[in-house]
Amino acid sequence: MIYTVTLNPARDRTVVIPNFAAGKVNRIVSFRDDPGGKGINVSKVIKSLGGDSVAMGILGGNTGRYILACLDEMKIHNDFVFVNAETRTNIKVFDEKNLVTTDINEAGSPVEPEALDKVIGRILKNAKKGDIVVFAGKIPAGAPSDLLYQWIKTLEENGVRTVLDADSKTLKEGVKASPMLIKPNEIELGELLGETLDSLDKIILSAKRVMAENGISFVAVSMGANGAVFVTKNAIYRAKGLKIQAKSTVGAGDAMAAALAYGIDAGMKEMDYCRLSIAASAAAVMCEGTQSADREIVDALNEKVEIFEM
Ligand SMILES: Nc1ncnc2c1ncn2[C@@H]1O[C@H](COP(=O)(O)OP(=O)(O)OP(=O)(O)O)[C@@H](O)[C@H]1O
Ligand SMILES: [Mg+2]
Repeated sequence: MIYTVTLNPARDRTVVIPNFAAGKVNRIVSFRDDPGGKGINVSKVIKSLGGDSVAMGILGGNTGRYILACLDEMKIHNDFVFVNAETRTNIKVFDEKNLVTTDINEAGSPVEPEALDKVIGRILKNAKKGDIVVFAGKIPAGAPSDLLYQWIKTLEENGVRTVLDADSKTLKEGVKASPMLIKPNEIELGELLGETLDSLDKIILSAKRVMAENGISFVAVSMGANGAVFVTKNAIYRAKGLKIQAKSTVGAGDAMAAALAYGIDAGMKEMDYCRLSIAASAAAVMCEGTQSADREIVDALNEKVEIFEM
Protein backbone atom coordinates (compact mmCIF):
# COMPACT_ATOMS: atom_id res chain seq x y z
CA MET A 1 0.00 0.00 0.00
CA ILE A 2 1.05 3.61 -0.56
CA TYR A 3 0.44 6.20 2.17
CA THR A 4 0.66 9.91 1.39
CA VAL A 5 1.25 12.42 4.16
CA THR A 6 0.09 16.04 3.90
CA LEU A 7 0.79 18.04 7.03
CA ASN A 8 -0.21 21.36 5.51
CA PRO A 9 -3.10 20.61 3.13
CA ALA A 10 -5.21 23.21 1.37
CA ARG A 11 -8.31 23.83 -0.61
CA ASP A 12 -6.98 24.97 -3.99
CA ARG A 13 -9.19 27.60 -5.58
CA THR A 14 -8.16 28.08 -9.21
CA VAL A 15 -9.54 31.25 -10.74
CA VAL A 16 -9.30 32.00 -14.46
CA ILE A 17 -8.50 35.65 -15.23
CA PRO A 18 -7.49 36.53 -18.81
CA ASN A 19 -4.61 39.04 -18.84
CA PHE A 20 -4.24 39.19 -15.04
CA ALA A 21 -2.84 42.55 -13.92
CA ALA A 22 -1.50 43.31 -10.44
CA GLY A 23 -2.86 46.53 -8.96
CA LYS A 24 -5.92 46.53 -11.29
CA VAL A 25 -9.49 45.25 -10.99
CA ASN A 26 -9.45 41.72 -12.40
CA ARG A 27 -12.61 39.82 -13.40
CA ILE A 28 -12.84 36.10 -12.71
CA VAL A 29 -14.36 34.28 -15.70
CA SER A 30 -14.51 30.88 -14.01
CA PHE A 31 -13.23 29.10 -10.93
CA ARG A 32 -12.97 25.63 -9.46
CA ASP A 33 -12.10 24.20 -6.06
CA ASP A 34 -9.99 21.09 -5.54
CA PRO A 35 -8.72 19.41 -2.42
CA GLY A 36 -4.99 20.16 -2.46
CA GLY A 37 -1.72 20.04 -0.68
CA LYS A 38 1.06 18.02 -2.20
CA GLY A 39 0.39 14.64 -0.56
CA ILE A 40 -3.30 14.83 -1.40
CA ASN A 41 -2.39 15.65 -5.01
CA VAL A 42 -0.20 12.55 -5.05
CA SER A 43 -3.15 10.44 -3.82
CA LYS A 44 -5.40 11.90 -6.53
CA VAL A 45 -2.93 11.02 -9.28
CA ILE A 46 -2.38 7.49 -7.91
CA LYS A 47 -6.17 7.04 -7.98
CA SER A 48 -6.46 8.23 -11.57
CA LEU A 49 -3.63 5.88 -12.59
CA GLY A 50 -5.73 3.03 -11.21
CA GLY A 51 -3.82 2.57 -7.96
CA ASP A 52 -4.75 2.86 -4.32
CA SER A 53 -3.35 4.96 -1.51
CA VAL A 54 -4.34 6.19 1.92
CA ALA A 55 -4.17 9.97 2.31
CA MET A 56 -3.00 10.95 5.80
CA GLY A 57 -2.03 14.11 7.65
CA ILE A 58 -3.83 16.93 9.43
CA LEU A 59 -7.13 18.62 8.52
CA GLY A 60 -9.19 21.19 10.37
CA GLY A 61 -12.38 23.24 10.40
CA ASN A 62 -14.90 23.65 7.58
CA THR A 63 -12.24 23.55 4.89
CA GLY A 64 -10.93 20.32 6.42
CA ARG A 65 -14.43 18.84 6.31
CA TYR A 66 -14.75 19.97 2.67
CA ILE A 67 -11.51 18.17 1.79
CA LEU A 68 -12.61 14.99 3.60
CA ALA A 69 -15.91 15.00 1.70
CA CYS A 70 -14.04 15.43 -1.61
CA LEU A 71 -11.69 12.54 -0.82
CA ASP A 72 -14.62 10.29 0.13
CA GLU A 73 -16.40 11.23 -3.09
CA MET A 74 -13.26 10.41 -5.09
CA LYS A 75 -13.05 7.10 -3.20
CA ILE A 76 -9.57 7.92 -1.91
CA HIS A 77 -8.98 6.14 1.41
CA ASN A 78 -8.09 8.60 4.11
CA ASP A 79 -6.99 8.62 7.73
CA PHE A 80 -6.49 12.25 8.81
CA VAL A 81 -6.04 13.63 12.30
CA PHE A 82 -8.69 16.31 12.76
CA VAL A 83 -7.88 19.56 14.60
CA ASN A 84 -9.81 22.78 15.29
CA ALA A 85 -7.52 25.14 13.37
CA GLU A 86 -8.97 25.85 9.93
CA THR A 87 -7.21 24.25 6.93
CA ARG A 88 -5.93 26.93 4.54
CA THR A 89 -7.20 27.98 1.11
CA ASN A 90 -4.69 28.65 -1.67
CA ILE A 91 -5.57 30.75 -4.68
CA LYS A 92 -4.11 29.95 -8.07
CA VAL A 93 -4.70 32.65 -10.66
CA PHE A 94 -4.55 31.18 -14.16
CA ASP A 95 -4.05 33.82 -16.82
CA GLU A 96 -5.43 32.12 -19.93
CA LYS A 97 -4.15 34.81 -22.27
CA ASN A 98 -0.51 34.66 -21.21
CA LEU A 99 -0.71 31.03 -20.01
CA VAL A 100 0.89 31.73 -16.64
CA THR A 101 -0.22 30.82 -13.12
CA THR A 102 0.21 33.06 -10.07
CA ASP A 103 0.06 31.30 -6.70
CA ILE A 104 -1.29 33.15 -3.66
CA ASN A 105 -0.81 30.77 -0.76
CA GLU A 106 -1.80 30.98 2.90
CA ALA A 107 0.88 29.81 5.33
CA GLY A 108 -1.50 27.56 7.28
CA SER A 109 -2.10 27.43 11.02
CA PRO A 110 0.67 26.37 13.42
CA VAL A 111 0.34 22.77 14.46
CA GLU A 112 0.19 21.35 18.00
CA PRO A 113 2.79 18.69 18.93
CA GLU A 114 -0.04 16.34 20.01
CA ALA A 115 -1.48 16.38 16.49
CA LEU A 116 1.92 15.48 15.02
CA ASP A 117 2.33 12.64 17.53
CA LYS A 118 -1.07 11.28 16.49
CA VAL A 119 -0.12 11.44 12.79
CA ILE A 120 3.13 9.50 13.18
CA GLY A 121 1.36 7.07 15.52
CA ARG A 122 -1.17 6.30 12.81
CA ILE A 123 1.47 6.06 10.06
CA LEU A 124 3.45 3.55 12.14
CA LYS A 125 0.27 1.57 12.80
CA ASN A 126 -0.68 1.47 9.10
CA ALA A 127 2.59 1.17 7.17
CA LYS A 128 4.06 -2.32 7.03
CA LYS A 129 7.43 -3.53 5.69
CA GLY A 130 7.63 -2.90 1.94
CA ASP A 131 4.87 -0.28 1.95
CA ILE A 132 5.61 3.18 0.57
CA VAL A 133 5.08 6.41 2.50
CA VAL A 134 5.20 9.63 0.48
CA PHE A 135 6.01 12.86 2.31
CA ALA A 136 5.18 15.81 0.13
CA GLY A 137 5.20 19.51 0.77
CA LYS A 138 6.28 21.75 3.59
CA ILE A 139 6.02 20.92 7.26
CA PRO A 140 3.60 23.23 9.10
CA ALA A 141 4.57 26.13 11.33
CA GLY A 142 5.21 24.93 14.86
CA ALA A 143 6.70 21.59 13.78
CA PRO A 144 10.36 20.90 14.65
CA SER A 145 12.62 21.34 11.61
CA ASP A 146 13.93 17.76 11.89
CA LEU A 147 10.39 16.28 11.99
CA LEU A 148 10.66 14.42 8.68
CA TYR A 149 14.21 13.33 9.48
CA GLN A 150 12.87 11.57 12.60
CA TRP A 151 9.82 10.11 10.85
CA ILE A 152 11.65 8.91 7.73
CA LYS A 153 14.42 7.38 9.84
CA THR A 154 11.95 5.43 11.97
CA LEU A 155 10.00 4.21 8.95
CA GLU A 156 13.10 3.17 6.97
CA GLU A 157 14.35 1.28 10.05
CA ASN A 158 11.01 -0.59 9.98
CA GLY A 159 11.58 -1.57 6.34
CA VAL A 160 9.05 0.96 5.04
CA ARG A 161 10.14 2.67 1.81
CA THR A 162 9.89 6.47 1.87
CA VAL A 163 9.57 9.11 -0.82
CA LEU A 164 10.37 12.75 -0.07
CA ASP A 165 9.18 15.59 -2.30
CA ALA A 166 10.01 18.76 -0.41
CA ASP A 167 12.19 21.83 -0.72
CA SER A 168 14.59 24.00 1.27
CA LYS A 169 14.99 23.07 4.96
CA THR A 170 12.53 20.18 4.85
CA LEU A 171 14.51 18.57 2.03
CA LYS A 172 17.84 19.34 3.65
CA GLU A 173 16.82 17.65 6.92
CA GLY A 174 14.89 14.83 5.27
CA VAL A 175 17.66 13.57 2.97
CA LYS A 176 19.86 12.82 6.00
CA ALA A 177 17.41 10.07 7.00
CA SER A 178 18.13 8.14 3.76
CA PRO A 179 14.71 8.08 2.11
CA MET A 180 14.42 5.62 -0.78
CA LEU A 181 13.55 8.34 -3.30
CA ILE A 182 13.61 12.12 -3.56
CA LYS A 183 12.11 14.22 -6.34
CA PRO A 184 13.62 17.69 -6.31
CA ASN A 185 13.32 19.99 -9.30
CA GLU A 186 16.66 21.29 -10.57
CA ILE A 187 16.46 24.46 -8.45
CA GLU A 188 15.68 22.53 -5.26
CA LEU A 189 18.58 20.15 -5.93
CA GLY A 190 20.91 23.12 -6.52
CA GLU A 191 19.77 24.79 -3.29
CA LEU A 192 20.34 21.57 -1.38
CA LEU A 193 24.00 21.64 -2.42
CA GLY A 194 24.38 25.42 -2.54
CA GLU A 195 25.19 25.36 -6.25
CA THR A 196 23.71 26.61 -9.49
CA LEU A 197 23.05 23.62 -11.73
CA ASP A 198 23.25 25.03 -15.23
CA SER A 199 24.00 21.86 -17.18
CA LEU A 200 22.75 18.29 -17.34
CA ASP A 201 26.20 17.02 -16.32
CA LYS A 202 26.12 19.12 -13.17
CA ILE A 203 22.60 17.91 -12.36
CA ILE A 204 23.63 14.26 -12.71
CA LEU A 205 26.81 14.73 -10.66
CA SER A 206 24.82 16.49 -7.94
CA ALA A 207 22.18 13.76 -7.85
CA LYS A 208 24.93 11.15 -7.52
CA ARG A 209 26.58 13.13 -4.75
CA VAL A 210 23.33 13.43 -2.78
CA MET A 211 22.77 9.69 -3.18
CA ALA A 212 26.28 8.75 -2.07
CA GLU A 213 26.42 11.18 0.86
CA ASN A 214 23.00 10.25 2.25
CA GLY A 215 22.37 6.66 1.23
CA ILE A 216 19.49 7.43 -1.13
CA SER A 217 18.62 4.91 -3.86
CA PHE A 218 16.87 7.09 -6.40
CA VAL A 219 16.92 10.80 -7.28
CA ALA A 220 14.42 12.01 -9.84
CA VAL A 221 15.29 15.55 -10.92
CA SER A 222 12.45 17.28 -12.72
CA MET A 223 13.19 20.13 -15.10
CA GLY A 224 9.76 21.53 -15.96
CA ALA A 225 9.10 21.64 -19.71
CA ASN A 226 12.58 20.15 -20.29
CA GLY A 227 11.57 16.82 -18.77
CA ALA A 228 13.62 15.02 -16.16
CA VAL A 229 16.67 12.96 -15.37
CA PHE A 230 16.34 9.87 -13.19
CA VAL A 231 19.41 8.66 -11.35
CA THR A 232 19.04 5.22 -9.78
CA LYS A 233 21.55 2.82 -8.26
CA ASN A 234 21.76 0.95 -11.58
CA ALA A 235 21.24 3.50 -14.30
CA ILE A 236 20.64 7.06 -15.45
CA TYR A 237 17.62 7.79 -17.63
CA ARG A 238 17.03 11.04 -19.46
CA ALA A 239 13.54 11.90 -20.64
CA LYS A 240 12.61 14.92 -22.71
CA GLY A 241 9.56 16.95 -21.75
CA LEU A 242 6.46 16.28 -23.81
CA LYS A 243 5.26 19.08 -26.07
CA ILE A 244 1.82 19.87 -24.72
CA GLN A 245 -0.60 22.76 -24.28
CA ALA A 246 0.12 23.88 -20.69
CA LYS A 247 -2.94 24.88 -18.64
CA SER A 248 -1.64 24.77 -15.09
CA THR A 249 1.81 23.74 -13.94
CA VAL A 250 0.53 23.41 -10.38
CA GLY A 251 0.92 19.81 -9.27
CA ALA A 252 3.25 18.71 -12.08
CA GLY A 253 5.90 17.58 -9.61
CA ASP A 254 3.28 15.88 -7.43
CA ALA A 255 2.06 13.88 -10.43
CA MET A 256 5.62 12.80 -11.15
CA ALA A 257 6.14 11.64 -7.54
CA ALA A 258 2.78 9.86 -7.65
CA ALA A 259 3.58 7.91 -10.82
CA LEU A 260 6.99 6.90 -9.44
CA ALA A 261 5.46 5.65 -6.16
CA TYR A 262 2.68 3.88 -8.08
CA GLY A 263 5.15 2.19 -10.46
CA ILE A 264 7.52 1.10 -7.70
CA ASP A 265 4.63 -0.26 -5.61
CA ALA A 266 3.24 -2.11 -8.64
CA GLY A 267 6.67 -3.69 -9.32
CA MET A 268 7.02 -2.08 -12.74
CA LYS A 269 10.42 -1.89 -14.47
CA GLU A 270 12.55 1.14 -13.59
CA MET A 271 12.50 2.69 -17.05
CA ASP A 272 8.76 2.07 -17.36
CA TYR A 273 7.81 4.01 -14.26
CA CYS A 274 10.22 6.81 -15.16
CA ARG A 275 8.45 7.03 -18.52
CA LEU A 276 5.03 6.91 -16.85
CA SER A 277 6.02 9.75 -14.52
CA ILE A 278 6.79 11.99 -17.52
CA ALA A 279 3.41 11.17 -19.07
CA ALA A 280 1.50 11.63 -15.79
CA SER A 281 3.18 14.96 -15.02
CA ALA A 282 2.62 16.29 -18.55
CA ALA A 283 -1.03 15.20 -18.27
CA ALA A 284 -1.31 17.14 -15.00
CA VAL A 285 0.01 20.25 -16.74
CA MET A 286 -2.72 19.86 -19.38
CA CYS A 287 -5.44 19.99 -16.68
CA GLU A 288 -6.84 23.11 -15.06
CA GLY A 289 -6.19 23.51 -11.36
CA THR A 290 -4.99 20.46 -9.49
CA GLN A 291 -7.38 18.06 -11.18
CA SER A 292 -5.72 14.83 -12.20
CA ALA A 293 -5.87 13.53 -15.74
CA ASP A 294 -7.65 10.34 -16.82
CA ARG A 295 -5.56 7.21 -17.29
CA GLU A 296 -6.40 7.13 -21.02
CA ILE A 297 -4.80 10.55 -21.49
CA VAL A 298 -1.73 9.43 -19.55
CA ASP A 299 -1.50 6.23 -21.62
CA ALA A 300 -1.71 8.17 -24.89
CA LEU A 301 1.08 10.51 -23.72
CA ASN A 302 3.12 7.58 -22.43
CA GLU A 303 3.52 6.32 -26.02
CA LYS A 304 5.10 9.64 -26.98
CA VAL A 305 7.67 9.88 -24.19
CA GLU A 306 11.26 9.85 -25.43
CA ILE A 307 13.41 8.27 -22.76
CA PHE A 308 16.83 6.68 -23.01
CA GLU A 309 19.47 5.23 -20.73
CA MET A 310 22.61 7.36 -20.63
N1 LIG B 1 5.35 22.96 -19.54
C1 LIG B 1 5.50 21.64 -19.45
N2 LIG B 1 5.41 20.84 -20.53
C2 LIG B 1 5.55 19.51 -20.45
N3 LIG B 1 5.80 18.86 -19.30
C3 LIG B 1 5.92 19.59 -18.18
C4 LIG B 1 5.79 21.02 -18.18
N4 LIG B 1 5.96 21.47 -16.92
C5 LIG B 1 6.18 20.36 -16.17
N5 LIG B 1 6.17 19.25 -16.91
C6 LIG B 1 6.37 17.86 -16.46
O1 LIG B 1 6.20 17.82 -15.05
C7 LIG B 1 7.40 17.39 -14.43
C8 LIG B 1 7.56 18.10 -13.10
O2 LIG B 1 7.60 19.49 -13.36
P1 LIG B 1 8.49 20.50 -12.51
O3 LIG B 1 9.92 20.25 -12.73
O4 LIG B 1 7.97 21.86 -12.82
O5 LIG B 1 8.12 20.05 -11.03
P2 LIG B 1 8.05 20.89 -9.67
O6 LIG B 1 8.85 22.14 -9.81
O7 LIG B 1 8.36 19.96 -8.58
O8 LIG B 1 6.49 21.23 -9.65
P3 LIG B 1 5.51 21.47 -8.41
O9 LIG B 1 5.12 22.89 -8.54
O10 LIG B 1 4.38 20.53 -8.64
O11 LIG B 1 6.25 21.17 -7.15
C9 LIG B 1 8.49 17.63 -15.45
O12 LIG B 1 9.59 16.77 -15.25
C10 LIG B 1 7.76 17.38 -16.75
O13 LIG B 1 7.70 15.98 -17.02
MG1 LIG C 1 7.80 20.11 -6.58
